[in-house]
Amino acid sequence: MRHLMSPLDFSVEELAELLDLALDIERDPSRYSQVCAGKKLATCFYEPSTRTRLSFEAAMLNLGGSILGFASADSSSAAKGESVSDTIRVISCYADICAIRHPKEGASLVASQKATIPVINAGDGGHQHPTQTLTDLLTIYSLKGHLDNLKIGLCGDLKFGRTVHSLIHALIRYPGIRFIMISPEELKIPSNLKEDALDPAHIAYAETDRLEDAIDDLDILYMTRVQRERFFNEEDYLRMKDFYILDKKKLAMAREDMLVMHPLPRVNEISVEVDDDPRAVYFKQAGYGVFVREALIIRLLQEAGANLSLPERSKGAESR
Ligand code: NCD
Repeated sequence: MRHLMSPLDFSVEELAELLDLALDIERDPSRYSQVCAGKKLATCFYEPSTRTRLSFEAAMLNLGGSILGFASADSSSAAKGESVSDTIRVISCYADICAIRHPKEGASLVASQKATIPVINAGDGGHQHPTQTLTDLLTIYSLKGHLDNLKIGLCGDLKFGRTVHSLIHALIRYPGIRFIMISPEELKIPSNLKEDALDPAHIAYAETDRLEDAIDDLDILYMTRVQRERFFNEEDYLRMKDFYILDKKKLAMAREDMLVMHPLPRVNEISVEVDDDPRAVYFKQAGYGVFVREALIIRLLQEAGANLSLPERSKGAESR
């Protein structure tokens, strides 16, 4: 059974195929509207979510499938003390594929070991968020046309931000990737990410706490929210929550072709006055999340043996 726990579960070639499929769906979604007819997606969310859960559900509905699930631990038998392992064994009887989000790192992995259906990690604590990474890669690929030779500024909570952790793992497999890590001292990327991922791949990166010093020469600025729910005390959160605020004045220092990305939700780190700037692509990015999740559901169901009938690729698919 093939699951998605980390972005590294797909090879670069498999990712390229997945992104091409997502772009084909984007070109004309209606052609895929019956591909998953009769199939069911379960969304098991033990942590709050807007985009991830709803984009998974929209994706399955767009493919003609059905959805079931729960949106909080309180509304599931977790509130009665049921383990994730037991829950997933039961969900395996009800659905064909499952997306799970849990505050504990590794919870999705435990679920995948007990499941008899494909399991997708929709975020496990501060660890990984592979489908946000697929969304981010599709956004970059679609808007920049390539995933290599990019200088990327990662800004904000690089310690607890799982989207950043997954994105780093995914991007270092492409040639010519450079990172500028922009964070307060206390929220720097974890040292294990440097030792296990960046250093072995000989990735060039610099660290700074000043957004102003880094913004002028980036292809992409990836902003993140300070992850309040993962802080041990509120005082530290309050001290750091407004450390970075991207406003028009700072954006004026950036290149005309820089993309501003954000996994959302945004709190204060991007001023709303930036939203109308053509470089601000975070809402567009959220839209790409549906197409890439459609592609992922199709691929994992196929790998699990489902006989799905896919349309021919639409015209223009070869041009990229
Ligand atoms: C992110 C997450 O849940 O990690 N949100 C999302 O899925 N788009 C980012 C965040 O919560 O800050």
